[in-house]
Amino acid sequence: MTTFETIITEQRGRVGIITLNRPKALNALNSQLMAEVVSAAQAYDTDPSVGAIVITGSERAFAAGADIKEMSEKTYVDMLSEDFFSAWGHLVEVRTPVIAAVAGFALGGGCELAMMCDIIIAAENAVFGQPEINLGVIPGIGGSQRLTRAIGKAKAMDMVLTGRRMKVEEAERAGLVSRVVPTESYLDDAIAVATTISELSLPITILAKQAVNRSQEVSLAEGILFERRVFHSTFATDDQTEGMAAFVEKRDANFSHR
Ligand code: CAA
Repeated sequence: MTTFETIITEQRGRVGIITLNRPKALNALNSQLMAEVVSAAQAYDTDPSVGAIVITGSERAFAAGADIKEMSEKTYVDMLSEDFFSAWGHLVEVRTPVIAAVAGFALGGGCELAMMCDIIIAAENAVFGQPEINLGVIPGIGGSQRLTRAIGKAKAMDMVLTGRRMKVEEAERAGLVSRVVPTESYLDDAIAVATTISELSLPITILAKQAVNRSQEVSLAEGILFERRVFHSTFATDDQTEGMAAFVEKRDANFSHR
């Protein structure tokens, strides 16, 4: 893996970990960090020894948003010609399951980065919000769209128009986060979830992720058809044969990781 300046990468077992590392700026997401997160995630995605990815920050801040200092000098033409934030789109193209381990502030782009991940494991001290309205802008990395799909229009409109923060209990009730865990163990807990996923069949987890994501894009009938065809296709894999044989023979399955 390349050497990075704004993130730290580490592999534990079959889990690739990306730690945002701009502590003085509460992990504000500048262009360099965006490029490095995307590059690290793409490298893990093409590495067959990695079966799940964890993205995390610090206990104080997952990320306090896009870097306001970097953005403050830019003009409309700068934003348009750079297609600012578009590189984040590559993160959601990653096929390996991605888990956000969120503690502390997940504001603006931080909340949006968490929502780009497949599962959000949140510490008890996690706080979510889309405060862009206070800066005279609106969410720009999917906040108005993914938050609305995640928690519904009523709450998303409240969050986006008032910029208020949501504590973790409300975030879990609203369906924004997958699990709430103690702050002391949130990263270990997220890595444990990632480890469980990483030990399953990688090709099948890729298909399962695609099937769930499809539900966000198409009608129910189209989604059901997509799911059924993908389900049928799992029967072309050795892992379906092995998984079902292992059940019948009352033993653990030995899945492939390719
Ligand atoms: N961009 C750049 N720097 C940031 C930052 C951000 N988003 N958030 C925090 N920082 C910096 C602060 O400027 C400060 O740096 P200095 O010490 O050099 O002054 C350092 O991080 C620590 O921050 P605070 O002193 O403010 O810490 P605090 O504990 O008092 O407050 C906070 C924490 C409530 C998160 C506060 O920092 C804050 O409100 N940050 C901005 C949150 C925000 O508006 N995020 C949305 C950004 S816009 C966006 O994300 C657009 C989009 O859709 C992608």
